[in-house]
Amino acid sequence: MKVTAFLGSPHRNGQSSRLASAILEGAEESGSEIKVHFLGSKNIKGCNGCYHCEKARECIIKDDEMQEIYADMESSDAYVFASPVYFDHVTAQFKLFVDRIFPYYHEKPLKGKKAVFVLTYEENNAEIYGEIVDWFSGMIDVCHGIKVVDSLKVHGVVTQPVKDNPELLKKAKDMGRGLGQS
Ligand SMILES: Cc1cc2nc3c(=O)[nH]c(=O)nc-3n(C[C@H](O)[C@H](O)[C@H](O)COP(=O)(O)O)c2cc1C
Repeated sequence: MKVTAFLGSPHRNGQSSRLASAILEGAEESGSEIKVHFLGSKNIKGCNGCYHCEKARECIIKDDEMQEIYADMESSDAYVFASPVYFDHVTAQFKLFVDRIFPYYHEKPLKGKKAVFVLTYEENNAEIYGEIVDWFSGMIDVCHGIKVVDSLKVHGVVTQPVKDNPELLKKAKDMGRGLGQS
């Protein structure tokens, strides 16, 4: 079993990445091979909208860092997707990644793979941003057949950093154990 994380924050040791690390720790404990892609510091170009992938089943853009990402999407059994909220949505880097996996939309080769989604934000209100989780879970299922089996939506991360919340980190680790065994 291979579990790969795709992290949308520019902060490698930030809140969303810390939670994703705990999930990966759990997955590793349950015997999975793990890998991380820090999308926030990668050169990922925007989708051309050229529809080359509709026939070719691969992206025409080759001169950026998507190639290793495509390889790991295909060779992984499960994914950890994580992003902070930037202006009421995922980060632009995370959205670039979402747009560039369009080549998988047409024949759905990733169908049946599992995922967890992590979303962190500053607002100290647990009631908001559920629509971002719903958007991502629905989109990745309908467009790629990937099932988001669990999610973590964590509020107030600037005043209450994740590292000070052992209960949350344990929850994340347990989530990873489950993902690694699924
Ligand atoms: C450009 C920018 C936009 C942001 N927009 C929001 C927002 O709309 N709502 C919110 O609650 N937090 C917002 N934040 C705060 C981040 O969500 C918060 O710092 C982040 O979850 C921390 O995660 P990280 O350490 O993984 O980057 C924003 C931060 C930045 C830098």
